[in-house]
Parts: sequence; C-alpha cells; structure tokens
Amino acid sequence: MIYVLGSLNMDLVAQVKRMPKAGETMYAERFYTGCGGKGANQAAAVAKLGGRVAMIGCVGDDAFGRTMKDNLASYGADVSYIRETSGSSGVALITVEKGDNRIIIDGGANLRLTNAQVDEALGQAKSGDILVAQLESAPEIVAYAFARAKEKGMVTVLNPAPARPLSQDLLRHVDVIAPNETETEILTGVNPKNEAHLALAVKHFYDMGIRHVIVTLGDKGAAVSVGREITYIEPRKVKAVDTTAAGDTFVGTVCVYLDRGKDILTACRYASVAASITITRPGAAASVPTAAEVEKVVAEEGIEL
Ligand code: RIB
Repeated sequence: MIYVLGSLNMDLVAQVKRMPKAGETMYAERFYTGCGGKGANQAAAVAKLGGRVAMIGCVGDDAFGRTMKDNLASYGADVSYIRETSGSSGVALITVEKGDNRIIIDGGANLRLTNAQVDEALGQAKSGDILVAQLESAPEIVAYAFARAKEKGMVTVLNPAPARPLSQDLLRHVDVIAPNETETEILTGVNPKNEAHLALAVKHFYDMGIRHVIVTLGDKGAAVSVGREITYIEPRKVKAVDTTAAGDTFVGTVCVYLDRGKDILTACRYASVAASITITRPGAAASVPTAAEVEKVVAEEGIEL
C-alpha cells in the first residue's frame, strides 16, 4: 500500500507563444483548468498504474476542492483521508511556453494539513508500506509523518519539490530522495551538471543519512545511485507538449514498482517510460499514463527494464 501525503491544486493553465513583458497584456493561445498538485499527481500516477494508494491532504470547501477529490477517486485512489477545510483550495497558476512550464502556487487548504490527520491515515499502515511526500505541505508535518512512518517500518520517499531547506528531523527519516537538478543544487550546493558533480551531490545526500538517491534530469533522463554506483537512464525521445507532472509521474511510478518488489533501478526505468508519455500530452493528473499504456510502449520499443 502506498500513502501519498501532499498537495491538491487546481491548475489554471495558459499556453503562450512567449511570456509577456512587465506591464504587457497578451492573449493565451489556449487556456484550460485541470486537477494537479504534486501530491495528487503522484497519487493519480500510482492509481493509474494499478497501485493501491491513499491520499493524505486537504481541500477547501469550494467547487475546486470537490472536483479534485472526485477526480482522484475516479482513478481508484482512497480519498477518505482528504479533509475538507473551510476556505479556499490550493491553486496553481501555470504558463506553458514551448512545452516548458512556470508555476506560481497559492497553498490554500494544503497548508491546513494536521498531525492528527497523519495519525489517522497511518493508523492502518503496515511495515513495508510506502509513504511518499513532497514539499507543498508544511515541512514540519512531512517530518512528523516520516517519523511516524519509520516507527511503523514503512519505506519513506521524499520528492523535495519545491526545494526548501530540510531539517535534520526530516532528513534522518528519509530512505529515498528524488530531487530534480535545481532541487539537488539547492539542497547540496552542487549543480549535477556532469558525472563528477553528480557523484559529489549524491555523496552530500549520503552524508545526510539518505540511502538511495534518484536525480531526475529533465530531457537528459535520470541518475540513480545504488550503493557507490551511479547509473544513468537515457530518456525516450518524444516531442514535449507540456512537461507539467513529468516529475510527479516519475516519483509515483517508482513507488508503484518498489511496492511490487522491484529493485530501484528497474522501478526508475519504468518511471522514465511513464514520464515520457506524460509530457506528450497537456495537463497534470490527466496526462499521467495507465499501466497498459506504459507496458505497450515497453513492448513496442523493446525497452529493457
Ligand atoms: O508538479 C506539477 C504540479 O506542480 C502542478 O500540477 C501544480 O499544481 C504544482 O503543484
């Protein structure tokens, strides 16, 4: 069983030819809303790939909140630990320019998550279950949840996005960390621009007490550390329409395959395929592929896992 602790945001997306200058008003090429939030996207990824998942989070008592909860439930996720709170839901203002996104978040209900909610949700969790979190929730709550998870013998996965300083309290309970390049640099002070720098960044994470490091490298793929060895996973070449939720798809997929008993490298290879499909379509949770879609690409392209 996989528990996702994190955010649910309604994404308000404008697809633009170029970013406006200060003081300039311009038309978007296309506008759409969609269910997002790093937590909810990861929960959607787990559910769409056939994993058992429960989402721990908060929505507001507004139409966005109800839509996001229903949407996640429609993928098969357990939404009973999503609390409806008074006030607005989390919102993300997103621009997509030539496939790349820029995101501004208003945390809203996501910042109303409580320790009591964590206790209730993890009450049923068992040793070997997975808890994954990101940093769109208060870091103290994530730290609390990871401490509870480790007491239960769970496996903890941290996607430190968006990056912010991490306390010792949180770090000592992280089993697997999955940052992107920017987050790696913010957390370790090293930009993983080449193999030597990546090895140095990974060493920093090891020194923090984290056993497994997965660095997602955008269109350069991903790097996975197993013991002292770092393995690069080449990306599938696809035309990027919208990269939103690619990282979330990657993290959610890793959790699914770890939960199925696969090793971390194999889990990352599946994750790389899943994320490559996500970026070929617009949107966040909606763009995450199903298990059948991933398996089809693996079979058709003879990808070794
Ligand atoms: O990782 C993508 C997500 O980041 C978007 O769905 C947006 O809601 C923000 O949380």
